Amino acid sequence: MPGFEIIGTGHYVPGTPVTNDQLARVMDTSDEWIFKRSGIRQRHYAPEGVGASDLGVEAAKRAIEAAGISPRQIDYIVFATMTPDYVFPGSGALLGGKLGLEGVPALDISQQCGAMIFGMQIIDGLIKSGAAKTVLFVGAEAHAGFMPWEAWDVLEGKSDRVVTPEEREKANRHRALAVLFGDGAGAMIFRATDRDAGIKALKVHTDGRFAELLYVPGGGFRTRPYWKKDMFDEQAHIPRMDGKELFKFAVTKLPECANALLKETKTSIDQIDWFLAHQANQRINEYVRDKLGVAAEKMPMNIDRFGNTSAGTLPILIDEQTRAGKLKRGDLCMLLALGAGIHWGCALVKW
Ligand code: ACO
Repeated sequence: MPGFEIIGTGHYVPGTPVTNDQLARVMDTSDEWIFKRSGIRQRHYAPEGVGASDLGVEAAKRAIEAAGISPRQIDYIVFATMTPDYVFPGSGALLGGKLGLEGVPALDISQQCGAMIFGMQIIDGLIKSGAAKTVLFVGAEAHAGFMPWEAWDVLEGKSDRVVTPEEREKANRHRALAVLFGDGAGAMIFRATDRDAGIKALKVHTDGRFAELLYVPGGGFRTRPYWKKDMFDEQAHIPRMDGKELFKFAVTKLPECANALLKETKTSIDQIDWFLAHQANQRINEYVRDKLGVAAEKMPMNIDRFGNTSAGTLPILIDEQTRAGKLKRGDLCMLLALGAGIHWGCALVKW
């Protein structure tokens, strides 16, 4: 039964980077606090009017070019985002439309930062069942829409107005969340192959009892109407996050998942060429790395430049590693990710 091989990757981040010092113009924070707690120095934000599908199109074009295929060869799209262009339809349909792929099925998945592992499992199934031969996976996020400030002009240096204490106070309430996230998209082309490549083993898990550790309280179809006037004043469009609990989950569940896979497949840490981990916080990855006994050079990080780009993160990291000539055909990789839901998983994949 054929598995998949990854024949092309691409990524795209919008505009110029926004530094930690720039964030300090609109809320009480500092480069020192952010970098020490998370490893982040800068991030990008999607401009007004640019959605996850727009970022995804740019990444997809780069992946298609790298794969050397015609877009018409794509026979399935899997799109992962937690910040879709619309409540519905999903961004996958929009992406397909923008790439001119009329008639090609597009599936949207919503596993937040855990999406890449779930996506790979779906893609493997699509290819093994014969439902698809060439699948485009896109992970893209436009988190800018939930940032807790309105003074983008001040943040971007287009105005030297000083934000009011009220504006600052509103942003401060969500500063632990706001500093972590950045926007961007990554894309990968998966193709059926008979060569020894693809998933060797994969585990995914969900524990919905902890959904409210990171969720958006407003705008859901539990209320009539699903968006109320006072929700904006209550900042209900901004996610609520229990960072400490999520941190604990990540440093416990990810090594647990990896160790189970290693045991099941009788693989040793030394046999693995790359540990490709979601970038939520550099400290989380350092903990995971130390718990598993992985050498630092085997776990690449790019959180300093992009922050947490949720579903975009792993495909962006994978594209960077591929273009740098580090991640190569035949390499054995362990992918690790955990996100809101809580969804998490890990996969042993031969490139
Ligand atoms: N700048 C300055 N000070 C801040 C900031 C900030 N941006 N944010 C919070 N603080 C303050 C707090 O107010 C608090 O002050 P106090 O002690 O006077 O009350 C102090 O710093 C400590 O705050 P904590 O929230 O306890 O800080 P913590 O050490 O837990 O770090 C962080 C916070 C970085 C968010 C960390 O908990 C973390 O990274 N958790 C993981 C989050 C995560 O992975 N989220 C993504 C999940 S994946 C997905 O699906 C999207």
